[in-house]
Amino acid sequence: MHVAMIGAGYVGLVSGACFADFGHEVCCVDKDPAKIEALNRGEIPIFEPGLADLVAKNVREGRLTFTTDLSQAVRSAEAVFIAVGTPSRRGDGHADLSYVYQAARDIAAAIDGYTVVVTKSTVPVGTGDEVERIIRDARPDADFAVVSNPEFLREGAAIADFKRPDRIVIGTDDERALSVMNDIYRPLYLNQSPVLAMSRRTAELTKYAANAFLATKITFINEIADLCEHVGANVQDVARGIGLDNRIGSKFLHAGPGYGGSCFPKDTLALIKTAQDYEAPIRLVETVAAVNSQRKRAMGRKVIAACGGSVRGKTVAVLGLTFKPNTDDMRDAPSLDVITALQDAGARVKAYDPEGMEAARGMLTDVAYAKDAYDCARDADALVLVTEWDLFRALDLRRLKAALASPVVVDLRNVYRPDEMRRHGFTYVSIGRP
Ligand code: UDX
Repeated sequence: MHVAMIGAGYVGLVSGACFADFGHEVCCVDKDPAKIEALNRGEIPIFEPGLADLVAKNVREGRLTFTTDLSQAVRSAEAVFIAVGTPSRRGDGHADLSYVYQAARDIAAAIDGYTVVVTKSTVPVGTGDEVERIIRDARPDADFAVVSNPEFLREGAAIADFKRPDRIVIGTDDERALSVMNDIYRPLYLNQSPVLAMSRRTAELTKYAANAFLATKITFINEIADLCEHVGANVQDVARGIGLDNRIGSKFLHAGPGYGGSCFPKDTLALIKTAQDYEAPIRLVETVAAVNSQRKRAMGRKVIAACGGSVRGKTVAVLGLTFKPNTDDMRDAPSLDVITALQDAGARVKAYDPEGMEAARGMLTDVAYAKDAYDCARDADALVLVTEWDLFRALDLRRLKAALASPVVVDLRNVYRPDEMRRHGFTYVSIGRP
């Protein structure tokens, strides 16, 4: 199959490389000439384990190309995927669809022969209808169908998630389009990933419902963790105790500093707005979003409390800046709230992250960046573990204690064991554990 992928961002690049690896001919299009030039030189603009090798292999084998020329890519494609950004619109939290609609206009101008236009970006219910209208208005003669095919991959595990998805959701009522989509995903259902065909609007909503549910699950366990701290219970045991119930499931029950990233905060907000627009507010998700925002700020107060109630004039070392490990993504990362709260309270902040420091430099001010975890801890009055990179899971505790001016560790990811930390002489605070 010939596939055009519009948008060489996270989802576009991963999907494009994986489709090429299935044997399709994929052309990734991006408006940004610098990005395309870099990709053509073999440079990958994001950090994602395995992606650079996958791209290089498929470029070498001639199945994956990069261009700024959208019309050329679309003209020869049987399927055109829209994988452009849908950020939160400033001011009202709605998804900003201007990139999607611009892509639709550009695609309309170039369509040649029967073409399936697929929205892979996370888009609110009804966006597929609007994309269809835009293309139909511009090109009444065009032979095309618009399909919703949301993507559920996680950053840091993107290739494995794409190649072995729990399910593939295809939203269309058009039989011809469904058969093209089946051809594209055939290598996956050989892996026995279920393909769910449904209406386009249902597919669009399914993506938001999935993310809102996961955000709710995390927020639920976070609130249980807070209660654990009050009643002297252990949230990890509670999570295990409930997670082994198959109806609940054990994943996404890790209490922490609150969810961040490019999806959950933006998508919960967009779902809330859609529901309000239809006068069918989802109050549960409204509460989840509010609780999570408050939680990220509250984590700064937790650190201050662990430092005896004040951090004025103190130095706090922060380990981990990205919103989760194995990514360089800083979007909506809890570290941003924690560091800002500490600085507002008069602390000096030192930080270390294996991949996130470059992005952090553009988002935070007055942070001193260290060269490794021990360098970060040196002479600090407290250390906060914000992101659970593997590198931080087996720190040399003696060396860490010797580096710190005062042995206070606040572990926002429950990476260490409280008894072990106490044995090493740390004042240790974690999430929801006595
Ligand atoms: C998420 C969805 O998982 C994915 O299906 C969707 O396509 C995009 O959004 P991603 O944002 O890459 O993926 O990361 P994910 O691993 O889901 O984590 C999101 C946030 O939740 C992170 O901040 C993470 O630290 C937090 N989290 C996750 C928890 O605090 N506890 C958990 O148990 C799981």
